[in-house]
Amino acid sequence: KTIYVLNGPNLNLLGKRQPEIYGHDTLDDVERLCQSVAHDGFAIRQLQSNHEGQIVDWIHEAREDGCGIVINAGAYTHTSVAILDALNTFDGPVIEVHISQVHKRESFRHHSYISMRADGVIAGLGLEGYAAAVRRICQLTQG
Ligand code: DQA
Repeated sequence: KTIYVLNGPNLNLLGKRQPEIYGHDTLDDVERLCQSVAHDGFAIRQLQSNHEGQIVDWIHEAREDGCGIVINAGAYTHTSVAILDALNTFDGPVIEVHISQVHKRESFRHHSYISMRADGVIAGLGLEGYAAAVRRICQLTQG
């Protein structure tokens, strides 16, 4: 079983970008963490793009061979009906992750299109949010 871990714009710079908000760990650290918590029999496919359509395409790919999706859509969280529509074509569990506590930040970060589809939403736990999301998808799709 494959869990897709999708990351949106600017998250390629994780560890370098505004470390006071997002910390010093990188996307490679996220991938290692996700792999370390995934239950036996689960593979992690972590992907990152700065382009909305690429994320849509990967969600379509997950329809074919993904058992669940962990998604940090970055700023597209707050703008993208296209990513919401794509997630609505996916049958398995979707967990939305934000490294920062978006509700404590600017008001434009308080609304999420992804949340209209997500089965779980995690914000403000740093990288631990990805780990919790992967564990949850394992639990929900085990067996
Ligand atoms: C983010 C929060 C978003 O508002 C922001 O645009 C990001 C990262 C987070 O992980 O905290 O790029 O999704």
